[in-house]
Amino acid sequence: MLTNKRILLIISGGIAAYKSLDLIRRLRERGAQVTPVLTRSAEEFVTPLSVSSLAGSQVYRDLFDLTDEADMGHIQLSRSADLIVVAPATADLMAKMAHGMANDLASTLLLATDTPVLVAPAMNVRMWDHPATQRNLAQLKGDGISFVGPNEGDMACGEFGPGRMAEPMEIVEAVQRATSAGPLVGRRILVTSGPTHEPIDPVRYIANRSSGAQGSAIADALVKLGADVVFVTGPADAARPEGVELIEVETAQEMLTAVQENLAVDAAIFCAAVADWRVASASDRKIKKTKGGLPVLEFAENPDILATVSQMPTGRPPLVVGFAAETDDVIENATAKRIRKGCDWIVANDVSPATGIMGGSENAVTLISNEGSEAWPRMGKTEVAEKLAARLADALGA
Ligand code: CTP
Repeated sequence: MLTNKRILLIISGGIAAYKSLDLIRRLRERGAQVTPVLTRSAEEFVTPLSVSSLAGSQVYRDLFDLTDEADMGHIQLSRSADLIVVAPATADLMAKMAHGMANDLASTLLLATDTPVLVAPAMNVRMWDHPATQRNLAQLKGDGISFVGPNEGDMACGEFGPGRMAEPMEIVEAVQRATSAGPLVGRRILVTSGPTHEPIDPVRYIANRSSGAQGSAIADALVKLGADVVFVTGPADAARPEGVELIEVETAQEMLTAVQENLAVDAAIFCAAVADWRVASASDRKIKKTKGGLPVLEFAENPDILATVSQMPTGRPPLVVGFAAETDDVIENATAKRIRKGCDWIVANDVSPATGIMGGSENAVTLISNEGSEAWPRMGKTEVAEKLAARLADALGA
């Protein structure tokens, strides 16, 4: 529920503005008070009258509307909400936000506010993919702004790809997360998960038995505490967590790139079972059986993502957590691994076949930090995740 939550809803000019009418209805059904702001171009798509009727509130339309300024100035308007939602956010408005421009009511409110901001972008796929928009997106994320969507799909302009505004119910869920009082609200955390697949040829690959269950559970637990989670996953069987920024990759090298592009975070948890080696020169054609000869695969070492991030001279996340899958001398090996890789914590687990942990629903872990080691009793992967998320919240002073 969103009982008595005050939402300032900025609607900018895009075809997706019609969905904002439904968004207003759904927010109000859950008890939120919605104060709408329309940009000039938004008025080309939805009328102030329909917006104000649905919101049950005055619509704020222009910076220089003196009546509004006398009634409630733009500074006060920008700060009197629990959350500012921008839906749809056009490429133009995102660019203004990223550059701190304030030449209309919407951009001025966004610059003047000290309230958390949630943005639901909507634009043509080429505009979304354009380096300028992607630059602005990275800047805004670095500034602590949260995003929901865009989704991939058919677009009003006839093209297909990412750029469709998130559905009203997805935005409502993001609003619920952003206004919940979880200790990790406003914190951004990256989680890697799942196995990686390293191609041998176009039809074969090298993989491992990781299901991705522990990584998904960790992401779920962090989301429940209010964190914004960037979830970078290999081809895992486990269900993808809800309410995260999902990045799907296949190989270790792709995972490293995705991680490096998303390091403006408060903490990073490396849960993925990354393949240590890849086939040095994977064939781009299916390798055929040949009489009398077996194929010989030559390996090359994959980048160690955890070590690379832990040892970054600048821009290292303040808290870096690794996992250590061991089959023997678990604590000793994991303690040495923490120091070798340079991470802050290692979550060590015994993955010898007898434990049934790899691919199973339980885990028995030991948390190792520079303060020593702490063995947790064997418990479900969800409980391990919740305990780890709570520890993280403590460590981040949340
Ligand atoms: N890891 C990583 N990149 C790799 C290999 C591992 O980021 N190329 C991360 C894992 O996500 C995990 C930690 O490093 O957090 C340890 O993984 P593990 O498989 O236990 O260790 P390895 O480095 O593979 O060491 P070894 O196989 O020698 O035990």
